Amino acid sequence: MKTLSYGRQWINDDDIAEIVRVLKGDWLTMGPTVDAFEKSLAEYAGVKHAVTFSSGTAALHGAMFASGMREGDYAVTTALTFVATSNSVIYTGATPIFADIDPSTLCMNPNEAEKVIHSHGGNLKAVIPVSFAGYPFDMAAFRAIADKHNAVLIEDASHAWGGDRENHKIGHDADMTTLSFHPVKHITTAEGGAVLTDNDEYARRLRMFRNHGTTRNPSEFVDTPDGPWHSEMQELGYNYRLSEIHCALGLSQMKRLDEFVARRREIAQLYLRELAGIEGLTLPPEKNGHAWHLFVARIDNAELHGEFFAYMRDNDIRLQVHYRPVPLQPYYRNKYGYKAGDFPEAERYYREAVSLPIFPLMTDDDAMRVVDCIKNFAWR
Ligand SMILES: Cc1ncc(COP(=O)(O)O)c(C=O)c1O
Repeated sequence: MKTLSYGRQWINDDDIAEIVRVLKGDWLTMGPTVDAFEKSLAEYAGVKHAVTFSSGTAALHGAMFASGMREGDYAVTTALTFVATSNSVIYTGATPIFADIDPSTLCMNPNEAEKVIHSHGGNLKAVIPVSFAGYPFDMAAFRAIADKHNAVLIEDASHAWGGDRENHKIGHDADMTTLSFHPVKHITTAEGGAVLTDNDEYARRLRMFRNHGTTRNPSEFVDTPDGPWHSEMQELGYNYRLSEIHCALGLSQMKRLDEFVARRREIAQLYLRELAGIEGLTLPPEKNGHAWHLFVARIDNAELHGEFFAYMRDNDIRLQVHYRPVPLQPYYRNKYGYKAGDFPEAERYYREAVSLPIFPLMTDDDAMRVVDCIKNFAWR
């Protein structure tokens, strides 16, 4: 029987042809395909700038840098995210703090965010909500928090590319929006990411940061140019560039983004319809515009969690659990002293959560196999 995992890429012959075209060309990095891919990302989201990075994690690091974040600052994010969201804050020398989730959205609870900001004090540099699973949470409350504290609003939209918030595309509700193009995401470049922004200064800093902190733009020089070869390193940056090969794949995948998201929505609707009414199984929050990166269900009786996971694996269905709350990871516990019980909603979610297979290449028959398997579980 075909093994179904919770997510996977879909590469077609057009994607492969685009990669081969770049391989036969003059540029392997920082050439016209990077520009074309960035243009296509920016146009899709309706923002002025898209700056690509070598991963979604590097994109987050870039966004933190561009915000001006440094040692002594802190940033608030959700306890329920991938470790990269808060790790990127630590990379700058700043401190992440965490807010519990709202169980009705599985995204950061703005009231909890206010509470932890209030009890922390100091210089809040960024508010970083995450559109968990692709859910387009209401941004207004986070905008208000960021404005009140004069902080930068950064959406980690790694789960939400191609989704919609209030009738527009995800990508321009925050000051910066970060994306990931990992193979399980809506489009892939194998590894890769991007930051979207309307702000010229953030875009300038992002471009500099991903290229060792250097610039070749004469209008930015602080020294008198030594000659036409002149370039300046003005900040400590990194090599976070995304190659032409990766961007060729991304540009080709962008042609099918709408199709990919539409198919994810169809599979989600199938699950919501077919799994409704199973006693003991709670289905995920729904909202118009959801991008359905993950389809997360909850096993109400947490004692069955491990058994359910193993049962599905025995039936060649590989689930995942997204995520162990980040502040309870050993590194965070040791560094910041977090302990079990600090984030009751995220912790409860973690004890019950399973991510079911959802990816555009899945057929309805694949999805029905998952449904039948779940129905046949010994629910009690
Ligand atoms: C919410 C979130 N943020 C950041 C990342 C990091 O992206 P990448 O794996 O491309 O570095 C991921 C990817 O797994 C993610 O799910």
